[in-house]
Amino acid sequence: MTQRTFVLLKPDAVKRGLVGQILARFESKGLQIVALEQRTIDAAQADAHYAEHVERDFYPPLRDFVTSGPLVAVVLEGDEAIEVVRALNGATDGRKAAPGTIRGDYSLSNRENLVHGSDSPESAEREIALWFPAL
Ligand code: CMP
Repeated sequence: MTQRTFVLLKPDAVKRGLVGQILARFESKGLQIVALEQRTIDAAQADAHYAEHVERDFYPPLRDFVTSGPLVAVVLEGDEAIEVVRALNGATDGRKAAPGTIRGDYSLSNRENLVHGSDSPESAEREIALWFPAL
């Protein structure tokens, strides 16, 4: 089933010059870019995006990180796009993510893990509406 999913290339991806390589992985897989924008977000946008995590211990440094510099917000479309993107991204912790995945190949961190991908159809719908209300 064709789906849309929301992806963030986090500030570490921009700072490290990995945006092109990461987008190439999604495009090479066959996913279409529906929307793409580089932005610097404030704390309110970070809190809205990570609403389910704002009370967690790990959230304050995560908020500082995602507001620390430009990031790239993307909507991708393709067959089973949500699960496909999560598989390409790899496990949350870059130290444990499998080689061959984006995090497994480029991240050594649980926080600075380069990418975010929606974890369910409900999350994708909510996140796309939050970041790209015109879609
Ligand atoms: P993401 O897929 O964007 O969803 C929530 C984010 O919180 C996650 O990627 C990581 O960047 C971060 N995260 C999750 N768990 C931890 C943790 N235990 N310590 C630090 N950061 C975390």
